Amino acid sequence: MNKHLKSLLPLLLAAPLAFSACQTQSQTAREAAPMDFTSVSAQIDHGAMVYKIECAQCHGDAGQGTRKAPPLVGKGALPLFRENAKARTGPFHNAMDIAAFATQNMPPDEDDRADMQAADYWAVLAFALTANGVALSETVGPDNAASIVLHP
Ligand code: HEC
Repeated sequence: MNKHLKSLLPLLLAAPLAFSACQTQSQTAREAAPMDFTSVSAQIDHGAMVYKIECAQCHGDAGQGTRKAPPLVGKGALPLFRENAKARTGPFHNAMDIAAFATQNMPPDEDDRADMQAADYWAVLAFALTANGVALSETVGPDNAASIVLHP
C-alpha cells in the first residue's frame, strides 16, 4: 500500500461508521427501543431529537407555537387551563398531567403517535420542562412527574 493511501485509510474507515451512528440515532425516536436514560442530559438530548421529529412542525422550532398549535415553551406556555382548547379538557397542574394529555393526544395523527414510545414522551417532556426553566435533578418518569408542579 502506498503512503498516501495509508494515511487516507483511517478516514475511509471512519466515514461509514459516523454515518451509521447518525442513522441509528435518528431511528431511535421512531423505533421500539426501550430506553433507560443514565442521566438527565441524555434524556433531554433524546427529547430534543424527538421534539424536532414529531412536534416542531406544529409547535415551532423552539416550542414558541405556530398558527397550528399553542406554545410549549416560553411565556404563557403550558397554562393551567387554555381558552378555546379542543383536545385538552383538563388542567395542567403538574408534569404528570401534561404527560397524560400528550400520550393520549400528541401528535394528533394516530399513526405518528404509534411511532412514539413511553420513553420518547418522558424525554420530550424533560426537554420542554428544561426549556421552560425547570431545573431537573433526575430524569422525568412516572415516579416523579406528579411532583414537578407547574401550577399548584
Ligand atoms: C399536527 C400538529 C401537531 C403536532 C405534530 C403536535 N402537536 Fe401538540 N398540539 C397541537 C394542537 C392543535 C394543540 C391544541 C390542542 C387543543 O386545542 O387542546 C396541541 C396541544 C399540545 C399540548 C397542550 C398545550 C396547551 O397549552 O394546552 C401539548 C403539551 C402538546 N401539544 C405536546 C405535543 C408534543 C410533545 C408533540 C410531539 C410529540 C406534539 N404536541 C405534536 C398540534 C400538534
